[in-house]
Amino acid sequence: MTVLTIATQPIAGQKPGTSGLRKKTPVFMGAHYLENFVQSIFDAIGGAAGKTFVLGGDGRYFNDRAAQTILKMAAANGAAKVIVGQNAVLSTPAASHLIRLNKTDGGIIMSASHNPGGPEEDFGVKFNMANGGPAPEAVTEAMFQRTTEITEYRISDAADIDLGRIGATTVDGMAVEVVDSVTDYAALMETLFDFSAIRAMFACGFRMRFDAMCAVTGPYATEILENRLGAAKGTVTHGTPLPDFGGMHPDPNPTWAHELMAEMMGADAPDFGAASDGDGDRNMVVGRGVYVSPSDSLAVLAANAHLAHGYARGLAGVARSMPTSAAADLVADALGIGKYETPTGWKFFGNLLDAGRATLCGEESFGTGSDHVREKDGLWAVLLWLNILAVRQQSVATIMAEHFARFGRNYYSRHDFEAIATDKADAMMAELRASLAGLKGQSVEGMEIAGADDFAYTDPVDGSVSQKQGVRILFTDGSRIVMRLSGTGTEGATLRVYLERYAPGPEGLDRDPQEALAPVIRAAHALAKIAAHTGRTEPNVVT
Ligand code: G6P
Ligand code: ZN
Repeated sequence: MTVLTIATQPIAGQKPGTSGLRKKTPVFMGAHYLENFVQSIFDAIGGAAGKTFVLGGDGRYFNDRAAQTILKMAAANGAAKVIVGQNAVLSTPAASHLIRLNKTDGGIIMSASHNPGGPEEDFGVKFNMANGGPAPEAVTEAMFQRTTEITEYRISDAADIDLGRIGATTVDGMAVEVVDSVTDYAALMETLFDFSAIRAMFACGFRMRFDAMCAVTGPYATEILENRLGAAKGTVTHGTPLPDFGGMHPDPNPTWAHELMAEMMGADAPDFGAASDGDGDRNMVVGRGVYVSPSDSLAVLAANAHLAHGYARGLAGVARSMPTSAAADLVADALGIGKYETPTGWKFFGNLLDAGRATLCGEESFGTGSDHVREKDGLWAVLLWLNILAVRQQSVATIMAEHFARFGRNYYSRHDFEAIATDKADAMMAELRASLAGLKGQSVEGMEIAGADDFAYTDPVDGSVSQKQGVRILFTDGSRIVMRLSGTGTEGATLRVYLERYAPGPEGLDRDPQEALAPVIRAAHALAKIAAHTGRTEPNVVT
């Protein structure tokens, strides 16, 4: 076996976005594309020599081939060892856990998260640091820089490694350890939650539906929910991971997880429903007849986390992304703990978690997690909900109603306008940004604008500054509009409009969110001139 040094040249556009480099699968399968990016990762982190990494992905199309390439490149770059999930499959939170558990120098995760998979769909690669979290901007920027100047990459010509067999092997002198994808993650969950209380709840007839959306969480959910917690067989649906996710769009929101939504709103709905995404870091939770928005879920989890033994000593603080509603802030204030508002992107939580300032984090984009790993964690959120339900012995609907009665309700919705022409979206945002300075004091839809800005964040731990993270328009009645372009799409631009309106109660706590938000929605359209710029009057995803 020899190490080959292959001449290459820079390929345009290898700039990581909100969460790694995501492209159409054929682009990733193009000549030298994956190799250039992986070599740039190794170069940007000071080389792979002597280092240990974790490798796994969500099992989507090309996951298996890409894993072989990455292993052979790691070997050729002198890495000491790579720990790989069986068949190169690891959920993103499980990969984060393995990095931390084994104290590796980082890990490579192959996933395009909630984007569809398949030969014509999406693929992605991202690097996580030794703390288990996504590489921060300075590191992803260095990777991108490398991709613009790369001249060669190194790869072993060894035969493919058998990743189906658990155990140790070597490739060109590098140790490869193939591990069961679920075992260590499931063990971690047992340290955080009261499995016996949850088991007792299932034994008493509690019914649940978990929709794995033909993606990576199937085996994790089946092992934990059905095998360890005793949920009825068949609780997990779409539980077999498929390279194309069975044609599903594995994004747990009311639009894409419509089968689950229909069941939970139907006559014979189980007590609790949940779904996760392609790589297992997102979650959606639904009670019988009641949808829980991610912002509300974060707030409820923060208010009740102490009921699970992993969090019995209380929380250090709660962090949320800026577009996420302020519901969690109200809980933090009541608990007298820290609250943090970060830009969109889980990587911004890393420093707060590492510094022990935040224990729980969450985003409106269906991400919730804690300091147990450095990624958001779909199944973790589901288990924390189950633990709370087992202790409180109340329905999701009752828990939500009591929460709103205590804290008031932050009516919330996100409206997405997908696949807009990039130049039109950019022009709209530019015009909106240019208008911000003059908005204060203006009245729209009967609401007065209290202020408007473009969110900038100074990390309280390392002082790094991130500018232009989204336009915020605040109203004197506490309502808020946020607008930004997605950093994770692969087709044109996606405009995200985040809408929020606070109702202190006791009246008006059980309205339909779209109806409660109607004036805020109209104001957003008027202020940004969405239809004039994009030709679109209606969103195609509503959360
Ligand atoms: C990924 C990231 C999240 C982010 C979400 C939406 O899931 O990990 O941190 O909130 O994408 O990002 P976007 O830029 O598309 O709004
Ligand atoms: Zn994901």
